Amino acid sequence: MARKKLIAGNWKMNGLLADGVELAKGVAAEVKAMGKPECEFLVCPPFTLLTSVKKALRGAKVALGAQDAHFNTKGAHTGDISPEMLKDVGCQYVILGHSERRADHGESSELVNKKAVAAHQAGLKTVICIGETLAERDSGKTIDVCSKQIMGSVPDDSTAADTVIAYEPVWAIGTGKTPTANDVEEVHAAVRKVLAKKLGKGNANKMRILYGGSVKPGNAKEFLSLPDVDGALIGGASLKVADFMAIAKNSGC
Ligand code: 13P
Repeated sequence: MARKKLIAGNWKMNGLLADGVELAKGVAAEVKAMGKPECEFLVCPPFTLLTSVKKALRGAKVALGAQDAHFNTKGAHTGDISPEMLKDVGCQYVILGHSERRADHGESSELVNKKAVAAHQAGLKTVICIGETLAERDSGKTIDVCSKQIMGSVPDDSTAADTVIAYEPVWAIGTGKTPTANDVEEVHAAVRKVLAKKLGKGNANKMRILYGGSVKPGNAKEFLSLPDVDGALIGGASLKVADFMAIAKNSGC
């Protein structure tokens, strides 16, 4: 089953206007220079940069995504942004349920599910994040935790066309530590089984499951050549054009 790899940058809370535009222009130029890359590209800047980054990406095959959305379309939700607003400024994707939001904002899988339903209704594709803490890994609960997060966070009517899963072990994010390739494949294969149970085999076989957590040019090939790894969700290394593009190139894009 051929799944087109997705190379996605999560810029997190980084970048003022000038930095964001420069980074986006750099990525756009490199992706254009690749001609017809084998992979799809996505960048997810902070809300404040979406419009400028959209302009900077003009003409390049790089999708735009946000890092969160509310589950309502509009109303009295100070500080929140709705899926419609994201769509309106040119987003195709939104990351939901990142472990930093689960930790910093107490987001539950139930809430992530509601957000995903709303995002899909607005015509956005979702990148739904899951992953275990170090304590959970050490106590042998990784598969159980990830399975529960999938069952809870992914809407029942999700399809491979509107949903991407990102497996990001919490302890591997921004730490330079990573699971072994075997560990990653084990989780991805287990996640695909859970997706099959939840969404049917057809969707599960077509749905992309990204790995995230200290992905760098030097380890990208090892992870992205695994059978059930369909791309990467990249934090720190997505803030440098050269690193982001080296990850893509080393992954066979
Ligand atoms: P790092 O690549 O900085 O470890 O971050 C991963 C991540 O959280 C992407 O969403």
